[in-house]
Amino acid sequence: MTSRPAVPPVVLASTFVFEDAESMARSVQERTPHLYSRWSNPTVEALEAEVAKLEGAEGCVAFGSGMAAVHAALLAATEGAPALAVQREIYGGTHELLGFATWPCPVSRFSLVDAVDAAAALPEGAVILLELPTNPIVRVVDLEGVRAAAPTATIIVDATFASPVFSRPLEHGADLVVHSATKYLAGHHDVVAGVVSGSDLDAVWRVRKVLGAVLDPAAAYRVWRGLRTLKLRVRQQNATAELLSARLEEHPRVTAVHHPSLPSHPDHGRLGGVLSAGGGVFSFDVPDPSAVLNRLTRFELAPSLGGTNTLITSAAGVTHANVSPEEQAEAGISQGLLRVAVGLEDAEELWADLEAALSQ
Ligand SMILES: Cc1ncc(COP(=O)(O)O)c(C=O)c1O
Repeated sequence: MTSRPAVPPVVLASTFVFEDAESMARSVQERTPHLYSRWSNPTVEALEAEVAKLEGAEGCVAFGSGMAAVHAALLAATEGAPALAVQREIYGGTHELLGFATWPCPVSRFSLVDAVDAAAALPEGAVILLELPTNPIVRVVDLEGVRAAAPTATIIVDATFASPVFSRPLEHGADLVVHSATKYLAGHHDVVAGVVSGSDLDAVWRVRKVLGAVLDPAAAYRVWRGLRTLKLRVRQQNATAELLSARLEEHPRVTAVHHPSLPSHPDHGRLGGVLSAGGGVFSFDVPDPSAVLNRLTRFELAPSLGGTNTLITSAAGVTHANVSPEEQAEAGISQGLLRVAVGLEDAEELWADLEAALSQ
């Protein structure tokens, strides 16, 4: 009789010990078995295998943060590429990274609404970075259109806001998919992590090995455990987001609501394609955002998303504070826009809290 642990052991070893000199030398050449935890680690590998399954990918490389994952995907893909084209409506940290790092090719921007035309105008072999859906007004880029317009491009999709439950971009034309695993994948506000999935990951792995932005094994275990409940969590979060956004749209003090489940949303028609549901984030406009924030008791005032607790934040004042007012307006972000990242609380309790905060 044999048995095995029901969950992956947390292997904290930084280095691995060999029985003989030949095996040690072989592990350097063949990257197996484990040699050193900046190269690979059993607990991190257990997580990577689960994420690859969720994405329908051949492999996955995990990182110490979502930003490290975005950085590695971009560095790996742009090596020898003639151009990097980036969707304008992306996470602020990624904006900052693009200005901060030095890239081996020219960097250009395009708006999500012009993505297909922008992709068609790129040179062969360019790199395209997309984010799907966008923050905070939950727009959905036409990934399949971009793929058709740029058949030789390397397309990277940051699908953090979708989770692999609602979007598997590799099946719709992406070459690499990135997540801040800090959000839905881990799901409990207790870890910072990132993942890159795809089929040809040698260059991504090499960036991790060289720059050392590895995921700690104990953190990898927490993300692995989060994945056990991912589907249940995101389905409930999406159902609550749909209910709250539909009710808010009827509320007289709310001037706009953004969630793809609403027929009024410009990308409602894209649901069912690259994105099967809008997910747990929505945003809405009110004339007095600070007053509404201060009256809420069941919503926590915080900027992240994807965890067990419902979080709410101002978009203009917090998540997009480093974006100029003109760019905010272009991205549909008004001064009164509040972004909600739904957690696992009872939907009716959240609604009662929102209604009370709006009616005072
Ligand atoms: C879409 C998106 N990508 C990347 C990141 C960066 O992830 P991390 O905070 O895990 O470094 C974030 C963080 O909020 C994000 O929202």
